[in-house]
Amino acid sequence: MEFSIKSGSTEKQRAACVVIGVFETRKLSSPGEILDKASDGFISGLLRHGDMEGKAGTTLLLHKVPGTFCERVLLVGLGKEKGFHEKEFRDAIATATRTLNDCGAFDAFLTLTELAVKKRDISWRVRQATLMASETLYRFDRYKTKKEEVRRPLRKITLSAEHRADLPVANTALNQGLSIAAGMNLAKNLGNLPGNVCTPTYLAEQALELGKEHGLKVEVLERTEMEKLGMGSLLSVARGSHQPPKFIVLRYEGGKAEERPVVLVGKGITFDTGGISLKPGAEMDEMKYDMSGAASVLGTLKAIALMALPANVVGLIPTVENMPGGNASRPGDIVTSMSGQTIEILNTDAEGRLILCDALTYAERFKPACVIDIATLTGACVIALGHVASGLVANHDGLARELLEAGQAAYDRAWQLPLWSDYQEQLKSPFADMANIGGRAAGTITAACFLSRYAEKYHWAHLDIAGTAWKSGEKKGSTGRPVPLLTHFLLARNNALVE
Ligand code: BES
Ligand code: MN
Ligand code: ZN
Repeated sequence: MEFSIKSGSTEKQRAACVVIGVFETRKLSSPGEILDKASDGFISGLLRHGDMEGKAGTTLLLHKVPGTFCERVLLVGLGKEKGFHEKEFRDAIATATRTLNDCGAFDAFLTLTELAVKKRDISWRVRQATLMASETLYRFDRYKTKKEEVRRPLRKITLSAEHRADLPVANTALNQGLSIAAGMNLAKNLGNLPGNVCTPTYLAEQALELGKEHGLKVEVLERTEMEKLGMGSLLSVARGSHQPPKFIVLRYEGGKAEERPVVLVGKGITFDTGGISLKPGAEMDEMKYDMSGAASVLGTLKAIALMALPANVVGLIPTVENMPGGNASRPGDIVTSMSGQTIEILNTDAEGRLILCDALTYAERFKPACVIDIATLTGACVIALGHVASGLVANHDGLARELLEAGQAAYDRAWQLPLWSDYQEQLKSPFADMANIGGRAAGTITAACFLSRYAEKYHWAHLDIAGTAWKSGEKKGSTGRPVPLLTHFLLARNNALVE
């Protein structure tokens, strides 16, 4: 899909389809009013006759509207004007894109980006419109031998800006939106791949590929190197699998040499059976998404490389398959992590923290400005926050605030949970320095407490994306989250979010 920005003169557009918004009940948006005037009241006449009320989610496609140069006009219902906020804006873009793609138009002029959204400027609207359009058009049909046919797929979307003076800012936002969308698509593709394809070796190959494409430095540590580093915790998870573990290090060097990097650590369990503490069978296929944290790190690096962000960012991906087997870890086994701390593995299904803790220790060598780990870590997080917000736990309030704000700006929200020392007690073990589980109560927090013990030397935040990285059910699939949050966080740190 090709995107561009233009300003003004809705009535003069020669596009195959011009899209205008209609509020409930029957009130045209201002570009709509301009078009209506040009058509001598043709559109408002239809509305008066009750052809459309403007309810959210509804559309009306018109052909050859008099006084216009375009082939079609698509009216998109926006719901009540008073309640038209961020979600409603995004929904309207999705409805418009879906309808355009089905209506046979080759290119479209979308005026919805001129609509007022409370507290959000043109740059937000353009970024979000780009993201939603790309989200709506995303398909994963790599394994369909017969692809779904689209008659004449939409090729070009032009977003409108009200004022000429908005064009520079809008074009920057468009570039950001497209870069984030490309990063999300990478994350979605990797997430949607089945476990028999997307193995640790495959992820490592993809990382090397990404590096070649965007000039990142990529290094893949093999089992023997991890042994030398003393990553006994990470390696214990790999024992049951025939797939060799990998530790991927990516470096994006867009900033000054002396600038400390942001380190992103992504959980890369390419399939989580639970190991000897085997998971129940229902929906176990979804555990192919257990590498979504890793995918979001690769996606974020792709996004910032595409926009040439002047920042230093390191990506660390410990990647392992968690399988049962004759050589697998047993409940009760004690392992020594790279930090020297010992862990009693009471449940082999709490494997994410076992690979992340060694990656967090490894992160120290980069003298990080901060470290953020991203992981589909706990089912408890899905119970607490559902599929709306990612869980956030941090050892530094300023960092937590930055991430919460980035999530708001990106419409990829997170919600903070406490890291009070009272919760640490649940991790006590009589035999080792800590247990790898803390009981049923506050499962998301105790998982974060475990990680915090490996993140004491720097500012650290943890995003639990168990509920947000993928959708279940009929429309199941990876969401590409939290690539938008992470990218907005890095953009904001570089004052590159024009708000
Ligand atoms: N990958 C899972 C977490 C998960 C579960 C994500 C369901 C999304 C949906 C993780 O490795 C896991 O199994 N966690 C356990 C931890 C428990 C044994 C302390 C869990 O949440 O049940
Ligand atoms: Mn598990
Ligand atoms: Zn897992």
